[in-house]
Amino acid sequence: MTKTIAMAGKGGVGKTTVAALLVKALSQKGLVLALDADPSTNLNQALGLPLDDSQTVGSIREKMTEDVSKGTLSPTIPKQEYLFGKIVESLAESRGFDLLAMGRPEGPGCYCASNRFLRDSLDKLVHDHKYDYIVMDCEAGLEHISRQTTRDIDVMLIMSDPTIRGITAAGRMKKLIEELRSNVGRAGLIINRVRGDLTPEMRKAVEDSGLEVLALIPEESGVSDLETTGKAVVDLPAESSLQRKVQEIVDNLSL
Ligand SMILES: Nc1ncnc2c1ncn2[C@@H]1O[C@H](COP(=O)(O)OP(=O)(O)O)[C@@H](O)[C@H]1O
Ligand SMILES: [Mg+2]
Repeated sequence: MTKTIAMAGKGGVGKTTVAALLVKALSQKGLVLALDADPSTNLNQALGLPLDDSQTVGSIREKMTEDVSKGTLSPTIPKQEYLFGKIVESLAESRGFDLLAMGRPEGPGCYCASNRFLRDSLDKLVHDHKYDYIVMDCEAGLEHISRQTTRDIDVMLIMSDPTIRGITAAGRMKKLIEELRSNVGRAGLIINRVRGDLTPEMRKAVEDSGLEVLALIPEESGVSDLETTGKAVVDLPAESSLQRKVQEIVDNLSL
């Protein structure tokens, strides 16, 4: 059974960072599909994988729509098959994991059948490649990815910065996501870049949010060194606090 883990939380809270480290940790245990569902496409950088602009599902769809309207798509190739073939081609493969970047979501000019094609293609991809894990790095909530996959989410990791506003927003996001999709197994809160302890006020905000705290991740000084030298976050040493915390999440959730 494939386990699907989705990241949620507002921009800049560390979703992509944690997603990449999670992919690294899980790839020691099984085959992982890293699904970059953020239109700004940056999970590949965090994973240290080069990715071409044409290598996103958005670009593939655009090209397909263009070919259809120009009449240059061979009528003997069913669109579904074409899309699936291109998606498989666009996978960036690495040791223990593949990366698929969704790119920009469908624009208003496109035809609606392609959302269904895409969902079917993703299901077929997961089935054919027998992934043990899917790690989805989402934009903020799951609105956009909801249109692209109907897969059950086993664990939703909602991230927040160490502020009361952030934690309150995470609680609202949990409710929103639960309204949007009924198929979320377990949701938990990760508070990132924590300095010292949570204040009593923050503890209260956590309680009010109804979220279970899965991890408090400290500010990691090594991250800015990586960013100024162009290295990927997965190059952090295994004993770094960030990588260790992510490993703890994997262990505690029995992933
Ligand atoms: N624990 C941490 N310590 C230090 N820097 C961090 C930590 N977590 C994330 N960052 C940095 O914060 C910024 C935003 O993180 P990112 O993962 O891109 O957020 P998101 O995907 O939620 O927008 C990045 O520059 C990242 O390196
Ligand atoms: Mg991100």
